[in-house]
Amino acid sequence: SITPVILCGGSGTRLWPLSRQSFPKQFVPLVGDKSLLQLTLDRLAWCDNPVICVASEDHRFLVADAIEAENVPGQVLLEPAARNTAAAMALAALLARAVNDADPLLLFCPSDHHIPDTKAFAETIRQGVPAAEAGAIVTFGVMPSFPSSAYGYIQQGDERSDGSRKVARFIEKPLPAAAQALLLQGNVLWNAGIFLSRASTLLAALAQHAPDILQACEKAMAQPRQDKVNRIHFVRPEAEPFLACRSQSIDYAVMEPHDNVTVVPFKGLWSDVGSWNAVAELGAADGEGNRVTGQGHALKARNTFIHAPDRTVVALGTQDLLIIDTPDALLVAHRDQAEQVKDVVSHLAQCK
Ligand code: GDD
Ligand code: MG
Repeated sequence: SITPVILCGGSGTRLWPLSRQSFPKQFVPLVGDKSLLQLTLDRLAWCDNPVICVASEDHRFLVADAIEAENVPGQVLLEPAARNTAAAMALAALLARAVNDADPLLLFCPSDHHIPDTKAFAETIRQGVPAAEAGAIVTFGVMPSFPSSAYGYIQQGDERSDGSRKVARFIEKPLPAAAQALLLQGNVLWNAGIFLSRASTLLAALAQHAPDILQACEKAMAQPRQDKVNRIHFVRPEAEPFLACRSQSIDYAVMEPHDNVTVVPFKGLWSDVGSWNAVAELGAADGEGNRVTGQGHALKARNTFIHAPDRTVVALGTQDLLIIDTPDALLVAHRDQAEQVKDVVSHLAQCK
């Protein structure tokens, strides 16, 4: 049986000013009128067991609202502060194991991706089940389109009898030149950031490659505080050991060094909505490559993206611009700088 685990603790700083510390991108309705987290909950509704969301204590109401809105049963693990995905996944695996020493398959999913074809998604995940049941960590790979440094790269090895492929090498966020070399070699996929494994498999891999992270999480989960608000079950690990935990992503902590990793390709539409350029690509463009939402107008413009939910915003004769309007902050950026928007957030924090 599959237990979905949604990782909700990211900060989404590249989507400033729409994504804020108190309201990160997974809680924002970026595609249509549901938030990315609500859409993720919908996409996982076919799984057998109730969902586990792992989120920051600061966002408990936002997570609870999304779960209530989608009317699904769920548990929410609340982190006193973010310690990245290795720790977040360890907490969820320990919680899943705690129930009658169960060992379900855990399907770890980001909370902030756009994957519109739920049927194709579910079919792809099911293809990974035999390998996961046999003790592998299963990753899902998408066809790379450019030498991005924002993704993990999966070098595919031999095909297994269960239809998945062995991962020959996992390379997290290579520098541009290395990413380019990987694409030229061929046979590589981008890591979609979705993992399927038995709870016990993940915990054993952490014990092998990152024992300090596992130990900190075990201490924090020895006697978690639990309470129930309406239908939602909140679980709070103990703060002190968790805050002492090292902050590292699962990709560096486990996926790179681990041996028994397999990959199933995902052929549906996938976007991690990682930057304003990625958001722009979700919408339809006019003949000049302009895309506008809400009350935006691009006139005599080229390759200009306008996000204008609240008031009229006009770009006249502009080229290669991102214009993001919100009630209290406006971003105007060259499209080349989409990845650097995160630096704006640290700059503004220093100016305070
Ligand atoms: N609960 C919790 N706590 N969730 C977290 C934390 C944390 O400390 N840090 C990140 N998350 C959540 C994010 O909200 C997101 O949904 C997911 O975990 C992945 O984290 P990101 O920070 O977005 O990772 P990334 O995009 O840099 O890289 C990962 O995803 C890529 C695909 O989008 C890696 O797995 C790459 O290899 C992969 O290509
Ligand atoms: Mg991401």
